[in-house]
Amino acid sequence: MKILAFGASNSTTSINKQLATYAARQIDDAEITIVDLNDFEMPIYSIDREKTDGIPQLAHDFKAAVKRADRIIISFAEHNGGYSVAFKNVMDWMSRIEGDTWEGKPFFLMSTSPGARGGATVLDQASSRFGFMGGRVLASFSLPKFYENFDAEKGIMNLDMKSAFDSQLLKFIAG
Ligand SMILES: Cc1cc2nc3c(=O)[nH]c(=O)nc-3n(C[C@H](O)[C@H](O)[C@H](O)COP(=O)(O)O)c2cc1C
Repeated sequence: MKILAFGASNSTTSINKQLATYAARQIDDAEITIVDLNDFEMPIYSIDREKTDGIPQLAHDFKAAVKRADRIIISFAEHNGGYSVAFKNVMDWMSRIEGDTWEGKPFFLMSTSPGARGGATVLDQASSRFGFMGGRVLASFSLPKFYENFDAEKGIMNLDMKSAFDSQLLKFIAG
């Protein structure tokens, strides 16, 4: 199973990238590709730029990575209750390429933040929207208080949260 995973953030120390990477590594026999949104930085989407310059090659490259994957894991950074600009820009450019943005792929959507809601607002937004953009959301999970509940080596430390994560991961693997 080819898994594409990324944090929907452009922070070089992204906690969401850590969580997405951790989730992908829990899946046996997976061929994992982790991408970094810093490698897909493009001009801010504008209809005028699209008319004059077309869709950037990086948007096509990201779309190709989506197409290659059997399943996709995203963990969302929450910025003011919504997507990070870095993620939204990649998604907006990609949505201008013909066909369904998410190519019918199955998703495990997650979020985390240092706060008590763990990015639940952006996760709700993505979970309710992805289905309208050609994604199949199989599972979702939000990890609150990242720095209290996650350890770089041991992963999710809180047992109740770990158990909720495991059951969502099983749903994702089962399809
Ligand atoms: C502009 C900005 C807005 C933020 N807004 C929220 C927010 O609405 N909810 C939240 O839980 N955290 C918010 N945060 C804190 C982020 O959750 C925190 O920076 C986290 O590390 C982001 O994830 P990342 O490390 O994967 O980028 C915000 C941070 C920034 C820089």
